[in-house]
Order: sequence, then structure tokens, then C-alpha cells
Amino acid sequence: MKAAVYEGPRTIAVKDVPDAKIEHPSDILVQITSTNICGSDLHMYEGRTSFETGRTLGHENLGQVVEVGSAVTKVKVGEYVCLPFNIACGFCKQCEQGLTNYCLTMQPEPALAGAAYGFAEMGPYQGGQAELLRVPYGDFNALRLGEDAAERQLDYVMLSDIFPTGYHATEMAGVKPGDQTVVFGAGPVGLMAAYSAILKGAGRVWVADHHPDRLQLAEEIGAIPINTNDQDPAEVVKEATLGLGADNGCECVGYQAHDPQGRENAALTMNGLIDAVRFTGALGVVGVFLPEDPGGAEAQGELQAKGKTPIDFGMMWFKGQKVGTGQAPVKRYNRALRDLIAGGKAEPSFLVSHELNLDEAAMAYDHFDARDDGWTKVVLHPNGAT
Ligand SMILES: NC(=O)c1ccc[n+]([C@@H]2O[C@H](COP(=O)([O-])OP(=O)(O)OC[C@H]3O[C@@H](n4cnc5c(N)ncnc54)[C@H](O)[C@@H]3O)[C@@H](O)[C@H]2O)c1
Ligand SMILES: [Zn+2]
Ligand SMILES: [Zn+2]
Repeated sequence: MKAAVYEGPRTIAVKDVPDAKIEHPSDILVQITSTNICGSDLHMYEGRTSFETGRTLGHENLGQVVEVGSAVTKVKVGEYVCLPFNIACGFCKQCEQGLTNYCLTMQPEPALAGAAYGFAEMGPYQGGQAELLRVPYGDFNALRLGEDAAERQLDYVMLSDIFPTGYHATEMAGVKPGDQTVVFGAGPVGLMAAYSAILKGAGRVWVADHHPDRLQLAEEIGAIPINTNDQDPAEVVKEATLGLGADNGCECVGYQAHDPQGRENAALTMNGLIDAVRFTGALGVVGVFLPEDPGGAEAQGELQAKGKTPIDFGMMWFKGQKVGTGQAPVKRYNRALRDLIAGGKAEPSFLVSHELNLDEAAMAYDHFDARDDGWTKVVLHPNGAT
């Protein structure tokens, strides 16, 4: 089968690899019809993680089931399914509590937790930017879709990661009706956090970034854009809230945060949020921060290369703020968000800018990584147009 393989920093090759296959009786095999490129892939693409060369990327996957293992009872061949990026067993101590983002069974390293398709430090699983994907514990992990699945893939594929992840950011931040919420980052995750806050009935939502095309999408869904080229998000938000700041905030950028000139500083967005959110407000941090960053010393310094981000903890403590962090537990939200899509209440596909074939993956990575104007979200169709 064909797959998008990581061959080193900023190098993706679409090549023939061995076919994915059923390896365990509870596996299902999915023919991938839609698979997204994610901001998380870009940390790996740029060589800023431990991701190994020769592995296939792709953790935002949707497709049609083509084979099921002998122990699979629920999922049927022919069904369209969306796969959470987390791979989970359903029976470990973490999964029993709904923490599928930190499953103990699927992570082979005993001292670590959590697994994902085509992801650094998240187990050996291949990604879905390929014609076929092996899905462990298919009955537990696959979210089955309704009859409109094939036509509405661009909406449903967002259930694999960014829609639940954006929603999770608002949950950790405690966003409720009437709240004033500030989001750092207008990438796909930030846009989904803003969209989730708006769906929850937030009174005012600001989104900060320096890319006008992304800010325009934020404005189109009803958020207030803040262009960091000429505005300080904390100043804008505080001025609009009697100096106090927003009720809560979402970090949707991660450790490669930078100023509009491109100078990296992993602390920028956290410190911006601590400043922009009021006393006792909560911060939902879904942007990725890592304990080891292979390019970190060059980009930001030795401490940052070890994930030691110099955040204003004193101010955070002084303001009594709370913070939630980590990978999103996609399964906690994907069924309800699926039904919002099916019921016509949510259309997360608004951020899709490009639908391409798998063969165009290298070009797509290049443009999306450069955050080129108009490249807000790429969906690849490995088995041809839908
Ligand atoms: N926690 C999870 O489960 C989870 C899931 C998916 C993605 N992520 C992470 O979320 C982050 C965002 O993902 P994405 O797909 O939206 O990526 P992206 O890189 O396309 O978007 C990030 C956006 O942040 C902006 N930005 C950079 N520095 C900024 C700053 N100082 N202030 C404001 N905006 C700034 C960039 O211009 C860009 O538009 C990444 O770190 C990704 O790995 C986490
Ligand atoms: Zn993702
Ligand atoms: Zn588990």
C-alpha cells in the first residue's frame, strides 16, 4: 500500500510499504478515505521530536471498515468509522476512568502512558496517511458514523482529534454560557476551541494569532480576532473587561510558540494567558509541550530543550488560577460532537482549505508547515476523491 513516510526533518515521501493487516483478533482494518495533517504532525515533520524515520504519519483518520478480527462483535465490514487519535484498550486503570489519552496497555514503555497512530513516544503504531490502517481494539476505539458519513467526511473526520481537542481545552478552562474566553492560536485547534466555546454559549471569545487568514476564519464563526502583529492580547482583553481579564483561556499553540517575526519562545502563550485571564480563572492547555525537544537548544536554549518553560508561576499563583494540560481524551466527547454534526448544529469542516490526494502529501506538508496564506487545514484522500 502507499503511505506518507517520515524520512527526516522536512522530508516526507509517499512510497510503497507493507500492507496494514489484522494482527490480533480484536483489530479492525480500515481503508482510509480521509486523513488530516495536524499541527502535531508538524512538530514531528520539523524534527522537533523523537519520531523515527521510516514511520508513517497520520493520527486524524476516517474510513471504511474492510476486515474485522475474529473477536470483533460490534463493528461491521462496510461501516464508516472515525478513529480517535488515542489508541486505548478500554480495560486498564486509566481507561476505566475514561482517561483513554493515558492508556497503560497500548503504551509499550512501562513508565509512560498513552498511545496514538504515527506519533512520537506514543507506541509503535503506524499512521493513517496511508491506504490502510490497523486499528487495535476496534470495537472500543472506532466511532461508527451514520448514513451521511461518506458525504460529510470533512465534518466527521474532525472528530478524530481537533474538534474534541478544542472542546477539551474549553472543558479544562471551565467555559460556560456567558463566559468571556480568550484563545491563543488560530490554527485548527485554536479555531475548534473558539468554535466549542461559542457552541457552549460563551458571551465573548477572542482569538489571538498573527495569520490574517486564520483570524478571518475566527471572525467568521463569531469570535473577535486579535492580530498579534500590532496588538497585545492581554491588553486587548483587559481593556474590554474593566482591567480584570477574561474568565478563562485556552492555549492552542504549544512549545514552538513564537513572536510575529518567527522568534521562538515556549513561554509566550502561557505568560500571555496568565496575564489575560482574571483572578481564579482557569487555563486549558492543549498545545503540546514536551520534556525533550531535539531542536530546542538551537531554537530557544538549553533549558527549553529539556522542556523547562519559564512561565510566570508566581503571577499564576497570585491570581489563584487553575490549569489543565495534556493530550485530549477524544472518546469522552466524540459521540456527542458527532451527534451535533449529524443534527446540523456543528460544521467543523469550515476550516478545511485543501482536499488532496496522498501523492500530494509532501507538497501539502511544505505549505501547511510554512503556514502559507490560505493553508488552514489539509485533508488527504488516500483512496481517491470521495
Ligand atoms: N492536546 C492534544 O490532544 C492535541 C491535539 C491536537 C493538537 N495539539 C497541539 O495543539 C497545537 C496547535 O495545533 P494546530 O493544529 O492548531 O497547529 P498550528 O501549528 O497549525 O497552529 C498553531 C497556531 O498558533 C499560532 N501561534 C504561534 N505563536 C503564537 C503566539 N505567540 N500567540 C498566538 N498564536 C501563536 C500560529 O501562527 C498558528 O496559527 C500544537 O501544539 C499541536 O501539537 C494537541
Ligand atoms: Zn492531530
Ligand atoms: Zn487502557
